[in-house]
Amino acid sequence: MIRLTRRYRFSAAHVLARPDWDDARNTEIYGKCANPSGHGHNYVLEVTVRGEVDPQSGRLVAVPKLDAIVRERVLALLDHRFLNRDVDRFETEVPTAENIARFAWDALKGEIAPSILDRIRLVETENNAVEYVGAEEEA
Ligand code: NI
Repeated sequence: MIRLTRRYRFSAAHVLARPDWDDARNTEIYGKCANPSGHGHNYVLEVTVRGEVDPQSGRLVAVPKLDAIVRERVLALLDHRFLNRDVDRFETEVPTAENIARFAWDALKGEIAPSILDRIRLVETENNAVEYVGAEEEA
């Protein structure tokens, strides 16, 4: 078994706040990220897949194919968007780094056969990154 990680970049804006909480509670939980005017990040998305090396190609995955899937299913939906209003899921879910990582996992899971999605890592700032490993795919 071998793992391969590809790194992608996208820029997006968000507000971290729940509409059903008051300003004090939103600020307590989300700090200045609750500012209703929003703010942006240059995100780095790392997608790790695992599986067996193809004996003919010597590769785990066809990287151009993986890149196209990530572009189509994740980057095209998030890049240069205001996540709270431009992405259906984030109309009801707060677009935290955690939830964006889960979004990417759900969008890619099962889409990169014969490889298996292993991990999503999302770097939001110099000081803030999350890793998500969802439920195991069927091998
Ligand atoms: Ni933020």
